[in-house]
Amino acid sequence: MNRILLSVPHMGGTEQIYVNEAFASNWLSTVGPNIDAFEREFEQRIGLPAVALSSGTAAIHLGLRLLGVGAGDEVLCPSLTFAASCNPVRYLGAAPVFLDSESATWNLDPNILEDALRKRSRQKNLPSALIVVHLYGQCADMDPIASLCRAYEVPVLEDTAESLGATYRNQAAGTLGSVAAFSFNGNKIITTTGGGMLVSSNQTWIEKARFWSQQARDPALWYQHSELGYNYRMSNVLAGIGRGQLSVLDLRVSQRRAVALRYRDSFSDLPGICLMPQASFGEHTNWLACFLIEEREFGCSRDRLIRSLDEANVEARPVWKPMHLQPLYAGCERYGGAVAEDLFRRGICLPSSSSLSERDQLIVVNAVRRAANANRLDSLKESRTSLLPRKMEAGN
Ligand SMILES: Cc1ncc(COP(=O)(O)O)c(C=O)c1O
Repeated sequence: MNRILLSVPHMGGTEQIYVNEAFASNWLSTVGPNIDAFEREFEQRIGLPAVALSSGTAAIHLGLRLLGVGAGDEVLCPSLTFAASCNPVRYLGAAPVFLDSESATWNLDPNILEDALRKRSRQKNLPSALIVVHLYGQCADMDPIASLCRAYEVPVLEDTAESLGATYRNQAAGTLGSVAAFSFNGNKIITTTGGGMLVSSNQTWIEKARFWSQQARDPALWYQHSELGYNYRMSNVLAGIGRGQLSVLDLRVSQRRAVALRYRDSFSDLPGICLMPQASFGEHTNWLACFLIEEREFGCSRDRLIRSLDEANVEARPVWKPMHLQPLYAGCERYGGAVAEDLFRRGICLPSSSSLSERDQLIVVNAVRRAANANRLDSLKESRTSLLPRKMEAGN
């Protein structure tokens, strides 16, 4: 039996045409017509100037540099995220400061942000930037976050790696801060196998990021460099995949949502398992279908459920382990963390590919139901046994 994976690439059919064009024209490099077209088409979709890069992490790195983050600075970031959200803070010699999430969205808690900014303003050490992450396909509650950041003059980088296609009050995720980073990693809602995009309303910044991403080569006959650059540009072949993928983005959003809602409906009679909240302020793409497991009601712990699914050849994984619990970031300053820890302890991501067939989804659903029932039966047996007279328990 084939393993049912968490999130796999799902081609739309036209990607190969653009890739073949790249081969036919010999644009097998980090320049070429697919890159220009992919950037243009992404700009049309999001409504902001864009630069195509080798990864979402590269986009966060360049985005932070555009915001002026440098050695010795501090950058606020939610603790509940993937390490790639904050590793670039370290690349720049700055320090991340972690903030807790709210249970209503699983994203940055605006109240915690307010507390952190108020305290730091009093101590005259406001951060150089805030990274706001839109997790698992859902935007953070941006109105209060943006108004706090405006009041304290803290620029915002949106980590939109997991939320291309999501909206907040009818605005696209990635258009709500000063800069935004998208990812086209193989597990994302659309993919270029690996890749990223940086967007900003500031055209000059986008040009600067494009310059840095190509080794920051000054215009001269020889190789001359006045600034530190990187090899972060997307390849023209991969941009071809991106063009095909972008044309099916809306379809992928509706397919991912359908997967998550089918799980929710299939589990509606099971106690102790509930879908990640769907905030009313926008469209959740449900990039990954995440659930919270309440062990006592469900009859089995989150970890035991992951192991049972694994035995049924189904890949599932825990919600992100918070950054303040990571050895790499031990000792970093933080504000709160209990909500992130609880979501990590109880949260599970189930297979969510847009290509997941109803038949395979049924295999997942049945495996979840079996795990819940098996453990409920076990504990029923245990409680019956403990009611038996001691002699019978001993087998007499
Ligand atoms: C929240 C988040 N930020 C950043 C990244 C980094 O993107 P990439 O893998 O394209 O570097 C990812 C995913 O990989 C992510 O999930």
